[in-house]
Amino acid sequence: MSLNGSIGVFDSGIGGLAITQEIRKLMPNEDIVYVADSLHAPYGEKTDAAILQRSIAITEFLLTQNVKAIVVACNTATTSCIDALRQRFNIPFIGTEPGIKPAVLNTKSGVIGVLATPRTLQTNSFSALADRVALNIQVELMPCPALVEQVESLQLDYAAAKDVVAQYVTPLMAKGVDTLVLGCTHYAHLLPVITKVAGPQVTIINTEVAVAREVQRRLHQANLMGEKQQGGSTQFYTTGNPTQFQRQVDMLWGAGFQVAQC
Ligand code: SIN
Repeated sequence: MSLNGSIGVFDSGIGGLAITQEIRKLMPNEDIVYVADSLHAPYGEKTDAAILQRSIAITEFLLTQNVKAIVVACNTATTSCIDALRQRFNIPFIGTEPGIKPAVLNTKSGVIGVLATPRTLQTNSFSALADRVALNIQVELMPCPALVEQVESLQLDYAAAKDVVAQYVTPLMAKGVDTLVLGCTHYAHLLPVITKVAGPQVTIINTEVAVAREVQRRLHQANLMGEKQQGGSTQFYTTGNPTQFQRQVDMLWGAGFQVAQC
């Protein structure tokens, strides 16, 4: 691992792009390699064994790209297998856990809602997190199997997404939720719709900025901050259809970045 290595980021698809944007803002001179495991998305309905197998394969690819740290920009992979990745590979891994703690600190009603994939909500590490930080707080869980596909297909505007978002968010409002955790990185791309459906009295908790700060903290701690003085490069790879991924990157990151298949 060298200071001149890149920051590797992976997700099942394009959810992790929102975290990558925050990493880019905070560390403009770092090189970044992003992998979307689009061929195998969504992870949220897979077994732990299948998610671990995919995460190992992507980590091995990222290591061929000279990465110095890996961001698991996927709540499902983080809750399912980040400990196993840390045991297997000698490189810092930074994960993305649902922001239960900030939600607990924010709630006035004592009722928080968590939107996440079915798999994330079933993992032992999610239950342990909720048990540890949400004492005396009612935590309402809402598995959202349709939202990852909604994002992957770039149906992100209010007209296209309001019904599917309301199907998950409205029942939580009826339970007195005043703080809503976005427990899947894909949902950041639906933030304006979720905010509008939930209404102005609800605080939405997402963790992109916190994860980017944690990446910076860990690089500092391990003496791995890059020394480049000019803008870092960003490379995008997908295991899926590059034409579709190009469209996604153009829309969510900006034009002019050539994607490749891995
Ligand atoms: C998924 O692939 O199902 C979602 C990824 C995530 O949980 O962030």
